[in-house]
Amino acid sequence: MDMKVVEIAAPGGPEQLRVAVRPVPQPGPGEVLIQVAAAGVNRPDVVQRQGHYPPPAGASDLPGLEVAGTIVAVAPGVSGLRVGDQVTALLTGGGYAEYVTAAAPLCLPIPQGLSLVEAAALPETYFTVWTNVFERGGCKAGDSVLVHGGTSGIGTTAIQLATALGAKVFATAGSPEKARMCETLGAVRGIDYRTEDFVEVVKQGTEGRGVDVILDMVAGSYVQRNIEAAAVEGRIVVIAVQGGAKADIKVNLIMMKRLTLTGSTLRPRTVAQKGAIAEAVYQNVWPLLASRRVKPIIHATFALAEAAEAHRLMESSSHVGKIVLTV
Ligand SMILES: NC(=O)c1ccc[n+]([C@@H]2O[C@H](COP(=O)([O-])OP(=O)(O)OC[C@H]3O[C@@H](n4cnc5c(N)ncnc54)[C@H](OP(=O)(O)O)[C@@H]3O)[C@@H](O)[C@H]2O)c1
Repeated sequence: MDMKVVEIAAPGGPEQLRVAVRPVPQPGPGEVLIQVAAAGVNRPDVVQRQGHYPPPAGASDLPGLEVAGTIVAVAPGVSGLRVGDQVTALLTGGGYAEYVTAAAPLCLPIPQGLSLVEAAALPETYFTVWTNVFERGGCKAGDSVLVHGGTSGIGTTAIQLATALGAKVFATAGSPEKARMCETLGAVRGIDYRTEDFVEVVKQGTEGRGVDVILDMVAGSYVQRNIEAAAVEGRIVVIAVQGGAKADIKVNLIMMKRLTLTGSTLRPRTVAQKGAIAEAVYQNVWPLLASRRVKPIIHATFALAEAAEAHRLMESSSHVGKIVLTV
């Protein structure tokens, strides 16, 4: 049986995303086959399309790191999932398609009250935020947190989750309107990084202490400024290097403040490692989604065949929250 997909014809611009026909993939041991209803679009898809983020060994060459849909086949070695179940799943690729295989431990039920479009927007950002802000960053109630890129898919998730779990959140964004949007999502102060110095603003907002946790998707010149903005025993977690992979930093401040400078990527981790994150997100975050204390912010939806338009919108950076493809 064949299916419609969107593939990357060659590294390059959004026009390289083209509709193609491929065989429906077969689930291997421990996997399920999902008929896709909606697929989340993430910045890593854009970087993959540009040719700078090759899929890990064994992953589909098709873009798409998360979907929601209905299970239509279950391979041996899967327990707790059945044909007909609606799930949302984290993938290593292949989501821009009518069907995709997923590892069973990375499938979660649709949170109560959420649509399939909303559910498709969850895994990549919620898993990433959970493991970086709460596991690596050790964020807890009463902490102060600085989220860079506050209106991104990741940022809108981090602001809401940290706020819901009792942290005081500051967030940077690229315009006054976006900074106010961060405040609507729960931040005590949105910072327009083009006109304001985030180090000064967080120092003022924390009686000079600085923040306990920083989620950084910029790196480059931000690394030293994060070190200055961090409180004693602060944790700085880098998840992307949009501002450059090299940084000039004063290491003595790391010692003086006893800082932790860390980071992680999600995609190349093992199914077991990602499964542990899935379980933690299910226990800690799914109840918050069901009670609407946090919610995915859906900026726009596009038909699968319009994936190029979705990428153009993401690259314009005029979106707030997530962009989702409907299949
Ligand atoms: N390590 C991991 O496991 C992992 C997993 C998923 C995603 N990521 C990374 O996380 C980032 C967000 O992903 P996404 O899918 O949510 O993308 P997205 O919605 O396209 O967001 C990108 C964001 O970066 C912000 N940004 C760019 N330059 C900035 C600067 N100098 N200061 C502050 N913010 C800046 C943009 O803000 P403005 O538009 O306001 O400028 C925008 O909100 C991406 O870089 C992605 O690669 C990492």
